[in-house]
Amino acid sequence: MKNNGKKTNGVRSTGFKRRLVIILTVAAVLTAYLYYGNTAVTVTRYDISSEKIPPDFDGFRIVQISDLHNSGNSVMKKSLISKTANAKPDVILLTGDMVDSYFTDVSAAISMIEKLNEIAPMYYVIGNHEARTGESSNLIRRMRELGIGILWNSYSIIRVGNDEIVIAGINDPRLLNKDGTADDAAIARESLGSLDYDREMYTILLSHRPELLNTYATYGIDLVFAGHAHGGLVRLPFIGGLYAPHQGLLPDYTGGVIYQIADTSMIVSRGVGNSGDTFRINDNPELVVTVLHAGC
Ligand SMILES: [Fe+2]
Repeated sequence: MKNNGKKTNGVRSTGFKRRLVIILTVAAVLTAYLYYGNTAVTVTRYDISSEKIPPDFDGFRIVQISDLHNSGNSVMKKSLISKTANAKPDVILLTGDMVDSYFTDVSAAISMIEKLNEIAPMYYVIGNHEARTGESSNLIRRMRELGIGILWNSYSIIRVGNDEIVIAGINDPRLLNKDGTADDAAIARESLGSLDYDREMYTILLSHRPELLNTYATYGIDLVFAGHAHGGLVRLPFIGGLYAPHQGLLPDYTGGVIYQIADTSMIVSRGVGNSGDTFRINDNPELVVTVLHAGC
């Protein structure tokens, strides 16, 4: 009987060890998968053709970076900088939420922006997170020192050779809509209506919010760069993103395609960082590279 008891205990012990090894292996694989999915930067390329794009802008290369959320992850940031340099951009666009209002660490965002600024001229619009934290004023002050174009309900002209295009930016509606009860589209319409650029020129708009595409189309914007949706956080095969702020479940605009309403095209970056305690599943950080093609 004693021998049988030892044998039974031995079998139980082996079974426990096997289950423990399986559990630890599954946990390790899941951890590695989540780490990879939240730090490995993917590059998405889009090509935009238009008769309004002037000849000297044929081949003009645009890198878009969005929603850094003051990520301190050095692996992701190093990869982002090297992939940005490899893309050989003529301009880099930052479409908001460089800082996170839940864990504000402006210095993390500034160090990243300083490195990117050595690669190409940059333009920036604020996101809802900058709009609700007063600490982002340090970020904006530093960007002004670096000569970054801050499109604060304003526009600039980009010139290449003999040709020019407009690059405009509007503030995130959150800046005025502090409690979220006002009409974001109405705020965006007011911002767009205040811009007095030549509407005949090819116009790029930076705006953090993708869900306002209808509004951008009303103003005849040619190409919009937006962010904010974080790719829908969880990306499901055949379905796309699962959830996005200001769009809710199964959002329409999360990235992966060029959205089109009338003559307005919109590219939505999945962003590179995470807000608060959120994380990504099947939704890697994304660097967007867009190439303009003239006269097609
Ligand atoms: Fe946002």
